[in-house]
Amino acid sequence: MITHIVGNRPQFIKLAPLYHQLERAGYEQNIIHSGQHYDENMSDVFFAQLGIPAPCINLFAGGGSHAQMTAKTMTGLEEALLAKKPDLVILYGDTNTTLAGAVVAAKLCMPVAHVEAGTRVHDKANPEECNRIVTDHLSDILFCPDAISLENLEREGLGQAAYITGDIMYDTYLSIAEKTAAGQEPWQEEIVVMTWHRQENTADRERMESILRLVERLESKVVCPLHPRTRKCLETYGLMERAAAIPNFEITEPVGYVEMVTLMNRAKLILTDSGGVSKESSYAGAKCLFMLELDVWEDLVRDGWIHKFNPQDEESVAQALRFAASAERVPLEKRPRYYGDGHAAEKIVRTLEEAKLL
Ligand code: UD1
Ligand code: UDP
Repeated sequence: MITHIVGNRPQFIKLAPLYHQLERAGYEQNIIHSGQHYDENMSDVFFAQLGIPAPCINLFAGGGSHAQMTAKTMTGLEEALLAKKPDLVILYGDTNTTLAGAVVAAKLCMPVAHVEAGTRVHDKANPEECNRIVTDHLSDILFCPDAISLENLEREGLGQAAYITGDIMYDTYLSIAEKTAAGQEPWQEEIVVMTWHRQENTADRERMESILRLVERLESKVVCPLHPRTRKCLETYGLMERAAAIPNFEITEPVGYVEMVTLMNRAKLILTDSGGVSKESSYAGAKCLFMLELDVWEDLVRDGWIHKFNPQDEESVAQALRFAASAERVPLEKRPRYYGDGHAAEKIVRTLEEAKLL
């Protein structure tokens, strides 16, 4: 029995192709949901759109501080894993759900596989960095989206257990893009697509105001499916009305993955602080303004595809606006290709079999 541990939006998107690949190969599997994301449009919609079966257990561990959520997930997971007795536990990404899964499964001496291993921003003030480091060091086998992630693991002495498979989100992106984008270009109006949710960009009123000021200064329509954390923070700081009054700013509820791919595929620019979305920008053909100065997807940064900036620094904002003004959709043949061929799930299953973990 294989148990997948997931709990939030990007993990459902990463789970889908691997679940389907394992199913095709005839393996028995189940899904434990931590409940970290719980709104219908942050969770259920992805199961429905991506054809993932319902979890066998939901731990309802969402909300609260990092420690509260992680502790609640760990307590629930210990009981669940002892009951299910999986032969392999599969973890995804770098969230508190991933961290809790790694600690509990490793201490129960269950083999652990980590999908999207080895990414590093080299800054422990970033909460996900703590999760990545612990998870990689507790896992038995590590699946990297790119060569830089493998190098990071080699530097930490984990190279023996690590394999490059490409980005599993690319598998999902391609499966949805095929169904949604065919024949739709050219678009009547190209837009800026924005996502905004990281702790670094929502924990402080001034930071949030500076991001709103940047949106005001963009010349295009900006469509922003707003993460519930960000909505709550804007409300707490009394900034929601101000945001809603920006004429070129269209705020929506979070959207499903089909709608998100459709939006990204008509974007001329993506403005984001999301790890997943900044990488997907290269699949969708829209360059990316990244609202943090962390080390993300370094190949795309070096190529000038991702431009990182500090929304609170006037010179940095001026450069970002120049980048935005020159952005236009990039045809398929000119998009960078650092993250595999869209067959990551197949490679992961094959590698697990060769390593005798299946
Ligand atoms: C989490 C991950 C982050 C990932 C993001 C993906 C950690 C530390 N953070 O951040 O790495 O990039 O998911 O989206 O694990 N909320 C709702 N409804 C929901 C989900 C969240 O209202 O369905 C609100 C709650 O007030 C919650 C807050 O958003 O307390 C933050 O949610 P949380 O899961 O802690 O962090 P994210 O910002 O979603
Ligand atoms: N996404 C989505 N709907 C939205 C916003 C994002 O389907 O309203 C998708 C996005 O395309 C990407 C994933 O969710 O595949 C990224 O999730 P998020 O930005 O929440 O997390 P991160 O990647 O930063 O961990």
